[in-house]
Amino acid sequence: MNDPDFHPVATRDEVRPGVPLRIRLAGRRLLLVRTPDDRLHAVDEFCSHEEATLANGAVKDGCIACPLHGSRFDLATGRPLEAPATEPLRVYPVKVEGNQVLVCPEPIDA
Ligand code: FES
Repeated sequence: MNDPDFHPVATRDEVRPGVPLRIRLAGRRLLLVRTPDDRLHAVDEFCSHEEATLANGAVKDGCIACPLHGSRFDLATGRPLEAPATEPLRVYPVKVEGNQVLVCPEPIDA
């Protein structure tokens, strides 16, 4: 039986490694990111610095880089690893059931 807190957002095949996928969930704009080592993360779509979209950000070493000013964010924790961003991205719980990817709209540690 499905956990009601998790919502299906994509199939696993739709999330290509290193290519962030935009999703909308409970009025929020998020990115679903699959790292090259096959981990799935859901984070806010917009950078915490100046609201630039991270949808075109480079994904490398478990991080996503903001295309505007270059801050990198740890995808597991949302923390910025360098300036100019100082605030973390919100990170959302993700789980996989079969080929379905599900995300909870309540951020971790919210
Ligand atoms: S908008 Fe992302 S680092 Fe400035």
